[in-house]
Amino acid sequence: MNKKSKSKIWFQKHINDPFVKEAQQAGYRSRASFKLIEIQNSYKLIKQRQTVCDLGAAPGGWSELAKKWVGPKGKLIACDLLEINPLDGVIFIQGDFTSPETQQQICEANDNQKLNAIISDMAPDTMGHQATDQLRSIGLVEQVLHFSKNNLAEDGACIVKVFQGVGFDQLVKDFRLTFKKVIIKKPKASKDASKEVYLVAQNLKKII
Ligand SMILES: C[S@@+](CC[C@H](N)C(=O)[O-])C[C@H]1O[C@@H](n2cnc3c(N)ncnc32)[C@H](O)[C@@H]1O
Repeated sequence: MNKKSKSKIWFQKHINDPFVKEAQQAGYRSRASFKLIEIQNSYKLIKQRQTVCDLGAAPGGWSELAKKWVGPKGKLIACDLLEINPLDGVIFIQGDFTSPETQQQICEANDNQKLNAIISDMAPDTMGHQATDQLRSIGLVEQVLHFSKNNLAEDGACIVKVFQGVGFDQLVKDFRLTFKKVIIKKPKASKDASKEVYLVAQNLKKII
């Protein structure tokens, strides 16, 4: 199938997707919002007055929800390669999360204090080669794990999207070595055909 036919099929599926319609009706920026709502309803990890960092934030669906949940006294720092339309009260950093400069900017935006939650819906640009795309996703999540070890409060939480496949089991093991509790969650809004799942991790283990 050529590229044009593939994108036509994608567009048809997209406009008929019930979560896309519901997101439009609710005024959310993306259908991804429903995935975070389900995770939040299940685990209540994001709370008033907290500081949360949203990685891969564009177009801003998760950020607008998380900002609402942390409330006016909380802080939301969002980062993406792409620009987003400004969101009230959200600190936005445009840059590549994997670059040390961007990570430094995130830390500075939080006065080098610990974060209460790191949420990541980052997905690498697809190259059309599933195995490569999946491995790049694992690479991104490894960076999120490393960043969490250094920048998350001990009782903090990390919610991160990852694609199952090569390296997934080892990644989950690494999360379990780092956090006391790790759940693998497939929200209803995540398409059945997609290999994406979310790791919901809580409470850093103490390094002895
Ligand atoms: C599925 S979208 C996120 C949707 C978002 N959670 C929402 O609710 O609107 C994935 C995002 O990850 C971003 N991304 C991918 N790699 C990134 C990186 N290295 N640094 C920052 N953002 C990245 C992409 O630009 C894209 O906007």
